[in-house]
Amino acid sequence: MPVHIPTESHPAILKIEGMLHKIDRLQLPTSSRREVESILVRQVSKEIDRALPWQAGHGRRSAMVALMIGQAMALDPGELHALDLAALLHDIGLLTLPLRQAAHRGFVDSESYLAIQNHPRDGSRLLEPFSFLRDASTIIAHHHERWDGSGYPYGIRGRFIPLAARILSIADAFDAIHIPEVSNHAARNLIALKIIRLASGTQFDPELVDALCLCQESIPVARGLFFLKVPASPSHWLPSNLLREGRPYNPEDEGMKKLVVKNEEVPRFEVVNRPAPA
Ligand SMILES: [Fe+2]
Ligand SMILES: [Fe+2]
Repeated sequence: MPVHIPTESHPAILKIEGMLHKIDRLQLPTSSRREVESILVRQVSKEIDRALPWQAGHGRRSAMVALMIGQAMALDPGELHALDLAALLHDIGLLTLPLRQAAHRGFVDSESYLAIQNHPRDGSRLLEPFSFLRDASTIIAHHHERWDGSGYPYGIRGRFIPLAARILSIADAFDAIHIPEVSNHAARNLIALKIIRLASGTQFDPELVDALCLCQESIPVARGLFFLKVPASPSHWLPSNLLREGRPYNPEDEGMKKLVVKNEEVPRFEVVNRPAPA
């Protein structure tokens, strides 16, 4: 059944749909099918980058981290392949938003925030008709769920969230954290990891956070790989344990500028596209 695409969607979405149709129709030998799909979907992710330039490369970087965690968790090759495709395309639902909402940086109004919260569902609906993306579309539908059930769009919790979606949510957040005062990539990764650990057991599955910590030394630090020139947007990410302390995220909040984690200071970090504090 053809998917209804809202009229205000980004024009790139039709081109991307056409590319996915072509991949879906390819008669590929089993021996090379996954490899070819992975290469071609990387090309599709570059189209998403052109449409969402403020987060260019986010899909490919998230895929790299997600695969590291997936391998550490001994996922089988089919599961790793679905995770790879899902990570590459996970924010495709943002293209169904009106441009002014998809491109918004900083605080957003509550109407835009509600629309943004639907992007996992919209992305999943868009990809579901393609048979080679069926598993990936399920993972994408849940990439903003949280371990404690306070995520979106469905609000499911714990192991009810598919394992691959729990992995993707960590990889997505790890890449989206922007630390403007740190230009050293290795230091940036260590700080991002500390921030992820802050939300272990609340936002993220603690076992998977441990898996990321164990393989942290394999995370590439090449220039431009993990440090975005502009704040990643929309990242939709916030350590929920800070929220529970009753402090809405506010970049000017002195308490947010220096978090103390196990006696180690974490510099100010940015999370964008959150509703403005009341
Ligand atoms: Fe997302
Ligand atoms: Fe993302």
